[in-house]
Amino acid sequence: MNSAKLILDNKEYELPVIVGSEGEVGIDITQLRGKSGAITLDSGYGNTGSCESAITFIDGEKGILHYRGYPIEALARQSNFTEVAYLLINDKLPSKTELDNFNYSLTHHSLIREDMKKFFEGYPPSAHPMGILAAMISSLSAYYSQKDDMDLNIIRLIAKIKTLAAFAYKKLIGQPYIYPRNDLSYAADFLNMMYAVPSEKYEVPKVLEDALDLLLILHADHEQNCSTSTVRMVGSSEANLFAAISAGVGALWGKLHGGANQAVLEMLEKIQKDGGNYKKYMDMAKDKNSGFKLMGFGHRVYKNFDPRATILKEACDKVLSELGITDPLLDIAKNLERIALEDNYFVERKLYPNVDFYSGIIYRAMKIPTEMFTVMFALGRLPGWIAHWKEMRSNLQSRINRPRQIYTGNVNQKYVPIESR
Ligand code: SDX
Repeated sequence: MNSAKLILDNKEYELPVIVGSEGEVGIDITQLRGKSGAITLDSGYGNTGSCESAITFIDGEKGILHYRGYPIEALARQSNFTEVAYLLINDKLPSKTELDNFNYSLTHHSLIREDMKKFFEGYPPSAHPMGILAAMISSLSAYYSQKDDMDLNIIRLIAKIKTLAAFAYKKLIGQPYIYPRNDLSYAADFLNMMYAVPSEKYEVPKVLEDALDLLLILHADHEQNCSTSTVRMVGSSEANLFAAISAGVGALWGKLHGGANQAVLEMLEKIQKDGGNYKKYMDMAKDKNSGFKLMGFGHRVYKNFDPRATILKEACDKVLSELGITDPLLDIAKNLERIALEDNYFVERKLYPNVDFYSGIIYRAMKIPTEMFTVMFALGRLPGWIAHWKEMRSNLQSRINRPRQIYTGNVNQKYVPIESR
């Protein structure tokens, strides 16, 4: 299958077809407008490939997710976040020496410039940490030039994002900043900066360090999702890495995307406050006029289970039992899932729990405040965003992204001076 035929206005056009390494078929319409004068239309890009990519493969029907060809289940069970970050960005699993050097670099670039602390001072306690994070990441471009070595800027960004996130949290709760420590793992260092206070010794519980490391792995990439496509869009104009990633943070913030984990918790808390009447909310979710959607359910690509949700559901039970926590919200979540999996509305539309459905419950068990949940998603997704930015920038054929449109506005308007309007 190497071509497709399109008949338009009784003319036949032959279009090349490409087949990916996992057998996906794409009709290449790069020359369509030049040959036929017509463009295609695909609102929400549900059927449109923006690029060829070798980073992540998803099979939505089979619930498959691979990072650089490695199944997410194997990486979740056997790898760790910085190794997965290295894999995504460098397209290879690191040797022990390579990983030690990568971890050493991440550790020794985790401080932010002292004068950046002044930026935090202007925010009110009500500021959302995602807005602060987007601003701070973009502000890194004031200190690190795009002319610097790209790999060094990549290290700086992965190393500093957890410091920026933890400082934003400390600023919002009015506590002193806790500086990064060189003796801790990536996940443990973040938790230490979040929870340590100068007045007492804090030991990061291993169960929390392991849970966070797993959550970061599961969020590390997801091919052309909204925020990653935003990073590629901004990067395609040759804007610097920090500007492109800052834009990705902005896109992730929306509750239909990364903001869903915060929205799931707020929904579960609302159901709990409403006497735990989850059936009422299931009915609302099925009623188009209610404007209510079941947060954490549904996915543009997964029309079967989201493999990350399956892993997270097990991790939820494990973390809660190890911490000795019984969370009524988890019971509500499990009841919602059970009913949805049997309810025709959800089954017909293939709406299953997605990555955001259970992650919020683990973050809550880790005492991460709800408004920090999407920041946690950004920490995890950063290596994926960087890998896509690097892939797009190293492809010499890549052009600035500039979609077309079909104009449906007014035509033949005659200008009338204001006096006569
Ligand atoms: C993430 O793309 C990615 O990979 C994203 C992500 C990643 O790792 O980057 O996986 C992370 O963003 C996960 C998704 C988190 N968002 C939510 O949980 C918010 C709730 N979900 C929905 O808003 C929705 O399911 C989306 C946004 C996730 C997907 O939207 P689509 O693909 O545009 O699907 P749709 O809105 O066209 O839905 C199809 C039908 C519609 O009903 P009909 O018009 O066919 O009658 O399903 C209904 C929708 O109304 N529907 C829901 C629903 N999700 C879809 N009805 C109730 N509750 C829901 N959650």
